[in-house]
Amino acid sequence: MKTSGIASLLVAGALALASQGALAAGDAAKGEKVYKKCKACHSLEAGKKKVGPSLAGIFGRTAGTVEGFKYSKAMVESGIVWDDKTMDEFLAKPKKVIPKTRMGFPGLKKEADRANLIAYMKEATK
Ligand code: HEC
Repeated sequence: MKTSGIASLLVAGALALASQGALAAGDAAKGEKVYKKCKACHSLEAGKKKVGPSLAGIFGRTAGTVEGFKYSKAMVESGIVWDDKTMDEFLAKPKKVIPKTRMGFPGLKKEADRANLIAYMKEATK
């Protein structure tokens, strides 16, 4: 059928575009499970520090700027502003982005885990 042929072409085009996009949109519900790996060290409540700083309001903020948290010099001097891209790179391998960070976490190898986690964090850290 002619119309379905056009429709499948459109779908194929959309998929091609989506896969070319820098980052796939994540699934926040799945990301909540990934966040369990961060929970021991990070609260999502503003002002509540654990081993790591609170992640409340993290997107759009400059790295190392939660008041009252003692960051490594490396984190403070990184100048990173947290957005989808910088967060994705950092979470893939924290020590590759900031070699002297004190964050004792090896990283999330799976791109899907990172995308889902970032989707969750965006909702949960507003
Ligand atoms: C073992 C404890 C620990 C775990 C697990 C951990 N972090 Fe961290 N995180 C830290 C510490 C400590 C810092 C501060 C690092 C520094 O100053 O160099 C930090 C810093 C950060 C920062 C920068 C914060 C800022 O204010 O600029 C982000 C973002 C972050 N962590 C996200 C995560 C996420 C997401 C996870 C889970 C995938 C995670 N961390 C797992 C301890 C941890």
